[in-house]
Amino acid sequence: MTFKNPFQLGCFISFMFLNTMLMAQTTDTNTKIEDLLAQMTLEEKVGQMNQYNGFWDVTGPAPEGGNAAIKYEHLKKGWVGSMLNVTGTEEVRKLQKLVVEESRLGIPLIFGYDVIHGYKTLAPIPLAESASWDLEAIEESARVAAVEASAVGLNWTFAPMVDISRDPRWGRVMEGAGEDTYLGMQIAKARVNGFQGKDLSQPNTIAACAKHFAAYGFAEAGKEYNTTDIGTSTLYNTVLPPFKAAVDAGVKTVMNGFNLLNGVPVTGDAHLQRDILKGKWGFEGFVISDWASISEMVPHGIANDLKHSAELGAKAGSDMDMESYAYVRHLADLVKEGKVPEALVDDAVRRILKVKFELGLFDDPYRYCDAKQEEALLYHEDHKASVQNMALKSMVLLKNENTLLPLAKDQTKIAVIGELAAEKNSPLGSWRLGSDDGTAVSVLEGLKQFSDNVTYASGPKVFGENANFLNEVVVNTEDTSGMDEAVALAKNSEVVVMVLGEHGFQSGEARSRTELGLPGLQLDLLKAVQAVNPNIVLVLMNGRPLTITWEAEHIPTILEAWQLGTESGNAIAKVLFGAYNPSGKLPMTFPRSVGQIPIYYNHFNTGRPNPEPNVFWSHYSDEENTPLYPFGHGLSYTNFAYEDLKINVRDDGTVKVNAKVTNTGDVFGEEVVQLYIQDKKASIARPVQELKGFQKVGIPAGETKTLTFILTDKELGFFNHKHEFVVEPGKFGIMVGGSSADGLKGGFTKK
Ligand code: BGC
Repeated sequence: MTFKNPFQLGCFISFMFLNTMLMAQTTDTNTKIEDLLAQMTLEEKVGQMNQYNGFWDVTGPAPEGGNAAIKYEHLKKGWVGSMLNVTGTEEVRKLQKLVVEESRLGIPLIFGYDVIHGYKTLAPIPLAESASWDLEAIEESARVAAVEASAVGLNWTFAPMVDISRDPRWGRVMEGAGEDTYLGMQIAKARVNGFQGKDLSQPNTIAACAKHFAAYGFAEAGKEYNTTDIGTSTLYNTVLPPFKAAVDAGVKTVMNGFNLLNGVPVTGDAHLQRDILKGKWGFEGFVISDWASISEMVPHGIANDLKHSAELGAKAGSDMDMESYAYVRHLADLVKEGKVPEALVDDAVRRILKVKFELGLFDDPYRYCDAKQEEALLYHEDHKASVQNMALKSMVLLKNENTLLPLAKDQTKIAVIGELAAEKNSPLGSWRLGSDDGTAVSVLEGLKQFSDNVTYASGPKVFGENANFLNEVVVNTEDTSGMDEAVALAKNSEVVVMVLGEHGFQSGEARSRTELGLPGLQLDLLKAVQAVNPNIVLVLMNGRPLTITWEAEHIPTILEAWQLGTESGNAIAKVLFGAYNPSGKLPMTFPRSVGQIPIYYNHFNTGRPNPEPNVFWSHYSDEENTPLYPFGHGLSYTNFAYEDLKINVRDDGTVKVNAKVTNTGDVFGEEVVQLYIQDKKASIARPVQELKGFQKVGIPAGETKTLTFILTDKELGFFNHKHEFVVEPGKFGIMVGGSSADGLKGGFTKK
């Protein structure tokens, strides 16, 4: 090896030094793990594989016989490796102390929690964040979440959910990155990096968890906890890549799921967990089951009883049991009876201990328990600024026909209508366990900061008072009181801002819906208002794509504002008054009707895609084939023109794509420039288009930017029917544009 200058030599020496340090550290950790393992009884090993909920049993059926006293005893015996849903430095410290001081080996607990889009200060729901296509902002958002979560004693989040889903009936689409694999991969990486930071042993970083491995987003009919049945092409090309991206980004844990996948409960699927995840991909962290998903192998008709489910789970590589009590009750016996090799238990324990070492818990088990930090960091002003920034970037301007937006500062008579306009809870979404009720800034509060000419009428009641994490949301469909008052206000106003949508607790886990229109009397209200004043800005608050066909036809301006978290109202007001120019793009297709679901942009062609003079082509008799709003769609207060697509196949086989984008309007704007490919003919059918690159660029009014994308084999290849990644020669189509439905088109031939 030769060095051109002393600097290069210096770099090389530092690199080698760092490498040696890292290797030494790893060897050191491995030795410590082996030392510890050698001292552990079988029961203590199994204990590491056992996770208990804090003393309230919430997201699933309460496990048989579970109670605080047993858990307490088990903690003291060292039969618990982790707790979930215990928060607050005081509580965490108390349990940690119990284990560290009273159990024989004093192995610290790892504390997990669903920190999905923030702990106290909430960012937008993950689907909304994904609409920003802004990876830096998304990483920063996860960072803020980690800082607050670690300040209350937590060191592990059950996020990111990286399930791809094409079914908005499934309430959990709010928790993911949408329908696209490529976008999902980039976001998975950003979120893992945000949570885990560069050094996991720092007291303000936490371990992440990619979930739900795998294919949970394909729950049949969008029904929660339901079966998934997908082909291997979809599994390999659509579902697995975001998990792989998370693993490549160094995610420390993976959660399996509740679902059967092609007949096998994923929790008991050795092929997925051992062959693919830990084998092929070399994942070194540990796998946690989903809540009671080990015991749920009994109702699935796969395990005889709890003991058998423990055997199946352990053999399949589910390293930690969340609240099934299966391992703690039966795994030691299963090993003694020769049904589960102890080597498998050892492997699981090594993985769990490794993450604990990496978190620095063996150096200081109370590392995350600084009460002063807890006080200083929760709802910190910097965090509010950060989540507001994220909220601004997450909104999608779906339609702006009469250019009602942005509202003028001196606009007189602004009517604000809709129960959700005054809501301080709903914008927090449903995964907001750590946050406090009523802490979101409402749209009304936000707007009042910009204008004194705002008058409010709620319209008819929409949601019952009992909406919370455990209950179904009750929706009023009968009582119209409030309607007349709202209509009268609209009649006497210049412009009407209507805030309509779903309650925060209508999406999320166990919130599947069969109807995706505006709940309750909201559409009636909208129609009544539109009849007297068509100057309506419709602000939507929802956790999933909705079917808003009437709205799209009759309302000139629609802003998709999702559930934007703590700073919701401030961010929405800024967009409405033009202090921020919207830049989001849909991460999920908006269907025209529920009957079109699953509808997604990267579908395959049928053999009969084009209209025929007769009925024998692929279509619906009563609905269009196209979506209402396509994947990647989103407008701005300015316009962008695309020109000059250049495609250059280079000698090394990579493809360089250039396009010019001009801001043709009067104001600065940000555009998400999207690149799609189509592999025209291959050994297995490829989608009609696939996102393979995007860049979010800010362009001043009147200026042009030339963007360059490089496509490598990674973007051009796919998994064939033998599950091998291949790049096949032949013709490819290219499209560069501002949505999946429109752009400059070209192509090239891959040799
Ligand atoms: C969910 C998981 C979650 C776990 C712990 C389950 O019901 O499916 O995503 O992390 O509960 O709260």
